[in-house]
Amino acid sequence: MSQTPTATPYGTLPPASPVSARKPISLPRLNEMRARGEKIAMLTAYDATFAAVADAAGVECILVGDSLGMVCQGLASTVGVSLETMRYHVESVARGLQRVQGTSWIIGDLPFGSYHASREEALRSASVLMQAGAHMVKLEGGGWTTETVRFLVERGIPVCAHLGLTPQTVHALGGYRVQGRGDESANQLRQHALDLQDAGASMLVLEMVPEALSTTLTQALERCHTIGIGAGKGTAGQVLVMHDMLGVNLGKTPKFVRNFMHGSSSVQDSIASYVKAVKDGSFPVNTEHAW
Ligand code: KIV
Repeated sequence: MSQTPTATPYGTLPPASPVSARKPISLPRLNEMRARGEKIAMLTAYDATFAAVADAAGVECILVGDSLGMVCQGLASTVGVSLETMRYHVESVARGLQRVQGTSWIIGDLPFGSYHASREEALRSASVLMQAGAHMVKLEGGGWTTETVRFLVERGIPVCAHLGLTPQTVHALGGYRVQGRGDESANQLRQHALDLQDAGASMLVLEMVPEALSTTLTQALERCHTIGIGAGKGTAGQVLVMHDMLGVNLGKTPKFVRNFMHGSSSVQDSIASYVKAVKDGSFPVNTEHAW
C-alpha cells in the first residue's frame, strides 16, 4: 500500500493512512464491530478529496448525503437534489477512495422523488447509485417504504433506512424539529423501525429523536445498526455532516453539532478527533439539552 501522496496537477490526495491497512468495511465487519461494542463512525463527503481524507482519518462509513444540496449546491432544502447529481457525487467519492485504496463503506442517498412512485422506480434509482460505486443506498421514511426496502434487499442492494427528522419531508413536518416525542409518535417510530429491520434494512439513521427512544430502539434492533444524529449517545454509531463538524456551515449550525476544528491542526486531524470521540463515547453529550 502506497504511503506517498497521490500527486495530481490540481491537488494531492492524502497518503493511505495506517487505518487503510484495515480490511475493506463490509456488513460482516460492521456486525463484528457491533458485537464487540465498538461504535461506528460515519461522516458525509461529497467529493474525491474529502472522501479520501475522511477515510484516512478512520471513519468506517462515508455517506454521500443529499445534504449536498444545501452544502454544495446552496439549495434551501434537500428536496431539489436530482438523481443525476447524486450519481455524480457518489462516483466522485468512489473514485477518490479507489485512488487511495480507501476501505470505507459508501452509502448513497436516494433523493426526493427517486423512489416514491413504485418499487421498480426505487430499484432503477438504487441501481444508478450502486453502479456509480455505492455499497448501500439510504432512503427516508417508514411505513410506506417498508415494501420498497424488502424489494431492494431481496435483489441484493443493502439498504440504510432513515427515521425521525427526515429532511426530504421537511415541508410536511413543518420544519427541522425533534420527532418521536410523546407516546403516539414514539410508538409509531418504533413500529416503523421494527418493520424496516424485518424488511431487511441493515442500517437505520435516527435523526433528532429523544435519546431514550434511540437507545431502546438500538437494543431492540439486533440486525440493524442505528446511526444517530442529534439522537444522543445510545446508538450503534454516529453521523455528522462534514461541513458542520468543520465549522463551515453557511446557515445555522444545529446545536448538537461539535466543531472538531477547534484544537485541531488540520481537517484530517479534526476528523480523526471526531472518530475518536465517537469511539470513546465523548461525542455526543447532552443532546437533549442541545435542542
Ligand atoms: O443527507 C445527509 O447528509 C443525511 C444525514 C444528515 C444523516 O441524511
